[in-house]
Amino acid sequence: MRSQRVWEVADIALAIRTENLTKIYDVGWGRQNMGIHNLSLEVEEGQVFGLAGPNGSGKTTTLKLLLGLIFPTSGTAEVLGESISSTSYKARVGYLPEGPYFYEHLNAPELLRMYGTLFGLGGPPLEKRIQELLELVDMWDRREYRVANYSRGMRQRVGVAQALINDPDLLFFDEPTSGLDPIGAKDIREVILELRDRGKTVFLCSHLLKEMEPICDNIVILARGELITRGSIEELLKSDEAQYRVEVREIDDATLATLTERAQKLMWLDDTCRALFDDRAQAFEAATMLEDAGARLLTVGPDRRTLEEVFIEAVGEESTDATDLQSG
Ligand SMILES: Nc1ncnc2c1ncn2[C@@H]1O[C@H](COP(=O)(O)OP(=O)(O)OP(=O)(O)O)[C@@H](O)[C@H]1O
Ligand SMILES: [Mg+2]
Repeated sequence: MRSQRVWEVADIALAIRTENLTKIYDVGWGRQNMGIHNLSLEVEEGQVFGLAGPNGSGKTTTLKLLLGLIFPTSGTAEVLGESISSTSYKARVGYLPEGPYFYEHLNAPELLRMYGTLFGLGGPPLEKRIQELLELVDMWDRREYRVANYSRGMRQRVGVAQALINDPDLLFFDEPTSGLDPIGAKDIREVILELRDRGKTVFLCSHLLKEMEPICDNIVILARGELITRGSIEELLKSDEAQYRVEVREIDDATLATLTERAQKLMWLDDTCRALFDDRAQAFEAATMLEDAGARLLTVGPDRRTLEEVFIEAVGEESTDATDLQSG
């Protein structure tokens, strides 16, 4: 079921809108922590929206404000057409917290039955829903395991199922793939895309940029509680400097000198040399030249930045330490 359309901004329905949302935490002794500052954002209905940013940039704070778990210092926000101070929209949202905690002695159906009951569900419809959800997250065959014996991946899978028990229109996922192996992470990404196909809106907080890139329609990047940049993935990744890129490794000095003469711009990323060209033919000629010279050609094609590059450009390398930015 799609959520009711509440606002129409240029024919686009919004699931979330915040205006100058600010949260300052009082930490005692007259000291304060900035959670988020004057955050204004919009999330279109039916999209996967990504909130990215380094550790401590305010992602979880934003999410908790939108869920009504904490209260803003100033500013406003509406979720599914209602102010965050209202309670009724909460029946239509689902939430997977960072590192979810579940009763250790329960198995997956018992756990989902408990959450379903909280939403007033029961009987055969609830049992049917539990089976559907456990199949969706690939836990039906392992339904007899107790939470105490779960791997981290199983915990996240059941966490996703729990967030979906009330068939919400809007899902909040906080770092859903953190600590998962590549297969577990891929499965969660597939579930997110499946949810979008079913018309749900997904609000995803993560600092795993490589994971956000293929699944998010729109992204906002936060740093130190402030919005640094926003846009669709296409807009953010489009390079405005040059149109074609050639990437190469194991290049000798003479070939590098020729490449430097021909390219509009040259940069190094570890041991990979990236040359940018305005013109497609020039890029392909350079690629042929490099191959003939015995260098290891990695890519040649339209220039597309990675989200990681956009992120570093926006946030600034000096403000993120190595642990802040993981590429997944
Ligand atoms: N309960 C709290 N009391 C005081 N300060 C807090 C509290 N929760 C968060 N903060 C502060 O607010 C800022 C934003 O934290 P938040 O947890 O929202 O960031 P985050 O982007 O989710 O980080 P991470 O990637 O580590 O999960 C940080 O400076 C943090 O220390
Ligand atoms: Mg967080």
